Amino acid sequence: MLHPALTIIREEHQALAAMLRSLSMLLAEHRRKGIPPDFGVLRAMLLYVDEFPEKLHHTKESELLFPMLRSRSTEAADVLDKLDHDHAQGERAIRDLQHDLLAYEVLGGDRGASFEQSVKRYVDFYLAHMALEEDRILPLAQEVLTEADWAELDMAFTKNCDPLTGHEPSDVYRPLFQRIVMTAPAPIGLGPAIQ
Ligand SMILES: [Fe+2]
Ligand SMILES: [Fe+2]
Repeated sequence: MLHPALTIIREEHQALAAMLRSLSMLLAEHRRKGIPPDFGVLRAMLLYVDEFPEKLHHTKESELLFPMLRSRSTEAADVLDKLDHDHAQGERAIRDLQHDLLAYEVLGGDRGASFEQSVKRYVDFYLAHMALEEDRILPLAQEVLTEADWAELDMAFTKNCDPLTGHEPSDVYRPLFQRIVMTAPAPIGLGPAIQ
């Protein structure tokens, strides 16, 4: 049976991957053209990562899904340890990226190249993290979790309502998503390719 929580986790992974790829492409294009980026949209993209994947997605994995898996199986304990460690680093990592972006905007110079390097490390880190979850953890969850576990997970993940997975943003988040969708390039937004 395909549980709603599994679909939501995969859709949220796709949304985060698309956002991270869009961010990398935006920076590479601006570097190639030698023009400064729209710092407002870069801030909005990082705020999305902070408010949705960091605060909702990863938190529910570490606080709910992973403890359930640990209680049902010892098979992937080392993988769960690594993924929990990644989640614990996540808040610091996004804070560091926001700082590096501010340094780029205010100081310019080679802080642009430093920010792009930091983004590249962050993107590689999270793409590998999500691939590990999809390859090892979600199949294990399908194997060992009970119907009661899934009911709890379905209820928790259904509340995330990440607007990049097709949900209408709340009034609070509407301006953030309008800015991202109207300005950022594909695959996340409708903004024009950088000329
Ligand atoms: Fe995760
Ligand atoms: Fe995940």
